[in-house]
Amino acid sequence: MYLLAIESSCDETAVAILGPAPRLLASVVASQVPVHQKFGGVVPEIASRQHLLTLNPLLEQALQQAQLNWEHLGAVAVTRGPGLVGSLLVGVSAAKAIAWALNIPLIGVNHLAGHIYANFLAHPGLELPALCLVVSGGHTDLIYLPEHGRFERLGRTRDDAAGEAFDKVARALGLGYPGGPLVDRLAREGNPEAISLPRAFLEEGSLDFSFSGLKSAVLNYLNRARQRGEEVNKADLAAAFQEAVIDVLVEKTLQAAGRTGVERILLAGGVAANSRLRQRLEERTQQAGLKLYYPPLDLCTDNAAMIGAAGWYLWQAGYRDDLYLNAEANLPL
Ligand code: KG4
Ligand code: ZN
Repeated sequence: MYLLAIESSCDETAVAILGPAPRLLASVVASQVPVHQKFGGVVPEIASRQHLLTLNPLLEQALQQAQLNWEHLGAVAVTRGPGLVGSLLVGVSAAKAIAWALNIPLIGVNHLAGHIYANFLAHPGLELPALCLVVSGGHTDLIYLPEHGRFERLGRTRDDAAGEAFDKVARALGLGYPGGPLVDRLAREGNPEAISLPRAFLEEGSLDFSFSGLKSAVLNYLNRARQRGEEVNKADLAAAFQEAVIDVLVEKTLQAAGRTGVERILLAGGVAANSRLRQRLEERTQQAGLKLYYPPLDLCTDNAAMIGAAGWYLWQAGYRDDLYLNAEANLPL
């Protein structure tokens, strides 16, 4: 009853092993951040080559950490999308080879379902229905979960994802890549009210998001200051930008909770690591009498433990993929 999980959808190669409950027995992540840093973002071709180099040693490392052998494995789960197709293919091909060689079930997992299920690993006994705000580098979605394995999307971003906006603003501020954690840290020293930035709430009643206008407002602010030869207070600008993103995320999440009548709110994805977002959601959910769940920091950004968590429920529910399983760059939830 051991499940091996593999994640390679973007720039982290990750392997995890779960045992019954489900309980995490091993989790290893090899970040490619230093490799892509000099390019200011992920270079897909380099990412897939890097996954190829890293995956086999990581598999051995995870088995060692869990003190298990290949023969102990009962199933293999792998991210099959969404993500960079070349990167995904490395994980999917490895998982198929393992499933075939060991004659064990193969389970393809949606990366976003993985982010959501990190919460079930972190909070055993967490019950459904719940509402999940998924905020990552590629997605900003409000998902209603009536029961395990069912995902109903109530809202999505119409342009940039929240994490993407963080990364682009960080680059414009000259902070580096990946930008989210750097903006988060700098914003703690700034005054969010020092600079006024727009919030896109869209049409009345819409649970969709839009962050490209806010991103442009930050870029325009920087350009204007440059033309006038004025010094920009980067901490204030980072704080004002972050607050504008969070205002909309929190407001729409509370609206969606009201509409669905849920008592539980989940937070998932890389941006769920944001300290101010956690704090603001904690305050608002408490006021509204709702319970907020979020994973620990290492389960927010990409990892294989979350893929294992989602894979575990699928495995137990009897879900199986065959060896024709393919990577899908735009796989919907
Ligand atoms: O979920 P993730 O690791 O990868 C995707 O599936 O996209 O999310 C990565 C995103 C990046 O845009 C990164 O800047 C953002 O999550 N991020 C943060 C923080 N930590 C990571 N954004 C804001 N505050 C953070 N502390
Ligand atoms: Zn992710």
